[in-house]
Amino acid sequence: MVKINENFKDLKENYLFSTVAKKVSEFQEKNPNKKVIKLGIGDVTRPIPNSCIKAMKRALDEMSNSKTFRGYGPEQGYEFLRKAIVDNEYKNLGIDIDEIFISDGAKCDCGNIVDLFDKDNKIAITDPVYPVYLDTNVMAGRAGEYINNKYSKVIYIPLTEENNFIPDMSKEIPDIIYLCFPNNPTGTVLTKEQLKLWVDYAKENNSIIMFDAAYCEFITQKDIPKSIYEIEGAKEVAIEFKSYSKTAGFTGIRCAYTVVPKTLFAWDKNKEKIQLNKLWNRRQCTKFNGVSYITQRGAEAIYTKEGKNEIKENINYYMNNARIILKGLKEKNIVAYGGINSPYVWLKTPNNISSWDFFDKLLLEANVVGTPGEGFGPSGEGYFRLTAFGSKENTIEAMDRIKSMKI
Ligand code: MLT
Repeated sequence: MVKINENFKDLKENYLFSTVAKKVSEFQEKNPNKKVIKLGIGDVTRPIPNSCIKAMKRALDEMSNSKTFRGYGPEQGYEFLRKAIVDNEYKNLGIDIDEIFISDGAKCDCGNIVDLFDKDNKIAITDPVYPVYLDTNVMAGRAGEYINNKYSKVIYIPLTEENNFIPDMSKEIPDIIYLCFPNNPTGTVLTKEQLKLWVDYAKENNSIIMFDAAYCEFITQKDIPKSIYEIEGAKEVAIEFKSYSKTAGFTGIRCAYTVVPKTLFAWDKNKEKIQLNKLWNRRQCTKFNGVSYITQRGAEAIYTKEGKNEIKENINYYMNNARIILKGLKEKNIVAYGGINSPYVWLKTPNNISSWDFFDKLLLEANVVGTPGEGFGPSGEGYFRLTAFGSKENTIEAMDRIKSMKI
């Protein structure tokens, strides 16, 4: 008799964005004539930049010729892309090419990284949180029982209006700390000084930080770090995840990368220090065959002059949407956060209505989709997320509809 991984029974029945998608398609089936505007999942709407398209077409042509054809690529990614990343993203930050691992998405890497760690490690997540960090640890049996909206073995660090969305150090020391800044879902950021406190805390306690920097290109303010390695000492305590999904429209193409510094260690049961870079490399070589050559050439093109300009244009376009959302909410006297260094706006539900009730109300009355804060964790209750990744026209229309709602 085949036995399942029992941990899966501890998961909530559906992944947050699948629940949202299901509710929306049920609504659409019942109301086929209504135009629904989706500002829920952070999926982009701008097409792939021309520089990437040209590079991918060239790469495709290479594949059609036996002299330039490529089969399996290096599991870690092609050197041309890893070098472009080091030169452009980590200039003067002391990151080496063999510390960069190209992948098919930051979501996958954030989930797969848990393979490296013992089941008994204690994890800390901010609350609300991108559900992947939590769910993948539940699957690995690291989260404990689900009681009263929380997993018994997980440390929840609230990110709320009360603490200005700045995570406080937990008294109970975690082994693994997940931090995502600019934050998904709240759209808020940490300054260098604030992030330094976490790096120092991790160092003091032999913890490791999983730093998700997928939204770093949306930062507009000074003194907000785009990489955790801007903080002294971070190379000894942090793994960083970055993605091309939201900047270059690669949500469908799939390309991202993870940085695992060679100076980062964890311990085996004999208290021997083990280099995590080696473990991750070993894991990837076994379980992953790399991202397609065509995709990696497309990603490389992001670092050309033309590519950089196109990415900037995309980001400006989305951040203009964020301003439209913030302005509309302000006019409606709805309190909102984020949207300045991030494509996510985190609003307080009016009249303290629950975040799922607000979801239903918005869908029913304005035919606009957002993401209920509670779906990201118990401290997300009473909040709601809108994304700036829609088209400008739809964003304007969505805000006009929200403004005319009776709230
Ligand atoms: C989100 O909406 O939070 C993101 O699109 C999720 C993701 O990048 O996987």
